[in-house]
Amino acid sequence: MSKIILTGDRPTGRLHIGHYVGSLRRRVELQNSGEYDKTFIMIADAQALTDNIENPEKVRQNIIEVALDYMSAGLDPAKSTLFIQSQVPELTELTFYYMDLVTVARLERNPTVKTEIGMRGFGASIPVGFYTYPISQAADITAFKATTVPVGVDQLPMIEQTREIVRKFNSVYAPVLVEPEALVPETEAAKRLPGIDGKEKMSKSLGNCIYLSETADEVKDKIMKKMFTDPTHLQVTDPGHVEGNMVFTYLDAFCKDEHFERYLPEYANLQELKDHYTRGGLGDVKTKKFLNSILQETLDPIRARRKELEKDIPYVYEVLRKGSEAAREVAAQTLSEVKSAMKINYFEDAELIRMQSEKYKPAE
Ligand code: TRP
Repeated sequence: MSKIILTGDRPTGRLHIGHYVGSLRRRVELQNSGEYDKTFIMIADAQALTDNIENPEKVRQNIIEVALDYMSAGLDPAKSTLFIQSQVPELTELTFYYMDLVTVARLERNPTVKTEIGMRGFGASIPVGFYTYPISQAADITAFKATTVPVGVDQLPMIEQTREIVRKFNSVYAPVLVEPEALVPETEAAKRLPGIDGKEKMSKSLGNCIYLSETADEVKDKIMKKMFTDPTHLQVTDPGHVEGNMVFTYLDAFCKDEHFERYLPEYANLQELKDHYTRGGLGDVKTKKFLNSILQETLDPIRARRKELEKDIPYVYEVLRKGSEAAREVAAQTLSEVKSAMKINYFEDAELIRMQSEKYKPAE
């Protein structure tokens, strides 16, 4: 069986380093691994609209931001199909049919949707489109017969819902759809990178992000001046805490042993650095400078590619247009299989027309 990747993001803002360690970095590795027959990366504008009814312009503006972030981070249109969800209308059609396979009670149990409803303050006024977006996400995934969906842990309920729809469809109709597997980040820090203020999650609304597109100075300022460390670590000589200290949380997500050789050769690895900090005698400026070197090294090539891409925005739109066309072809093929399994392929079914003619033939 072919191995196929599909994943994507809602275009509601620029991507930040939480997205990068949580999923983007992995996608680029998978794309380059040569182990997958196809990689589809989708900008989920239709899903973004389900809770941005008042903000169509925001979604429109962020399509290009996300596309630039993707391509700058290393997603390569020669290897991956980059496309826009709304430009593949087959996905909407699949969604409508899958709705028959899911109960309202099942949607109610989705923990991610529950949390989001609370966060967005929908109260009793939940848009039906928002409520049902897990079904549309199942269409996104199954339309491409994806086997592998690299996502953050918050997306696991969507993959579970997709798997249920696939099993139901295949048992009720015919074995057309493929059950996908989620691929989540390996380390805790990569799973849920907190904001620079140490708050729950890096998020635009909390203003605690480091964006992939920020300049070197902006990133440095955020680390040196704003990053939350250990409020009890007042003097360099004081023993410090690494838990809840964002410098160490970010080092967990970004630091490799080779970074020590380059920037802090007096330590062999992160554990040694942590031990020293915990004992006392290691200052925040030093750990922050180290983190800054690592982040700059990670972000430099991303920024450089972005600068190049920004010179030719029509090219980026062209990539998305071509990608959307290619995605449409694949989705149309699946839709056609789905429709014949559901017996709604009247005009392609010569046998049906022949039988009906037989049935209605006037008596001799
Ligand atoms: N729900 C994802 C997000 O909020 C975006 C998304 C839409 C997606 N369809 C998908 C992710 C299919 C993976 C697979 O970012």
